[in-house]
Amino acid sequence: MFSRRDRPGSVRTVLLVALVASLGAAAELRVRVRLSDGHIAEETLEADGEQDSVTLEFKQGDGTLITFLADFKQEVKLFRALILGEPERGQNQYQALCFITRLNSNEIIPSESMARLRQKNPHAIRSAEERRTEDQLAMNVAVNLSRAWQLSAHVHNMCAEAQEAIYTREVDVKHWLDKGVEGSVFEILPQEEDVPDLQTCATSRDMWQACSCRYSLRLEWYPCLLKYCRSREGVSKGSPYKCGIKSCSKGYRFEYYVAHRHLCLWDEET
Ligand SMILES: *[C@@H]1O[C@H](CO)[C@@H](O)[C@H](O)[C@H]1NC(C)=O
Repeated sequence: MFSRRDRPGSVRTVLLVALVASLGAAAELRVRVRLSDGHIAEETLEADGEQDSVTLEFKQGDGTLITFLADFKQEVKLFRALILGEPERGQNQYQALCFITRLNSNEIIPSESMARLRQKNPHAIRSAEERRTEDQLAMNVAVNLSRAWQLSAHVHNMCAEAQEAIYTREVDVKHWLDKGVEGSVFEILPQEEDVPDLQTCATSRDMWQACSCRYSLRLEWYPCLLKYCRSREGVSKGSPYKCGIKSCSKGYRFEYYVAHRHLCLWDEET
């Protein structure tokens, strides 16, 4: 028979999160993660089977609320950052940014698998098994909120507060136009060729000058792949079954045009 180490049961016990049959309870998972700023955040992962979507949300050490939504139906992913302002510098309570781009297959596990995840060791601080590289995304197109439902039913809820700051990429726009989305959803922002002396906001000093703004975020822990095991007993011997998840961390750096430096106060030289 099997040695102790080989027993499928012992494989399962080392998994942080178990896949179990869904009992119809709220498909919500809370995971404690250490962010790159050292802050320990409680991340909420929520799966909506009906909408075929997954939402991930956490608060950074600086108070910024990050929300990520994967819309599998429309193959779109949405990022929202609610950045706290500094009232002593005359800023609003918070500034909202929304980034919309295509969701590729195998970026994150399907909503139906996410809905089956159950928490083990809720107090453990997790770190991802795989740290993926940072994507750099040139968000050179603005999206009109009142028409954006054509991209995803979730844009309206997610991006309402960002109104003037909803961005996407030109390559994504081409794809959506081919699929029949109307051109009036999009507005091309000034490009580097139009504004040859466009500075990065990090180096610009003039608060009223246009500049190229950067915003970076990292999803520190999310289930990115399903793990398969082979059953060793019974009639189904040898056939693969889902027995856990692999966790990943992934960074994103968005770059986009702003008409005034003061819309991008976090982007400073370090
Ligand atoms: C966005 O779309 C709405 C309704 O279709 C329109 O009234 C508005 O002018 C558009 N906004 C911009 C900035 O183009």
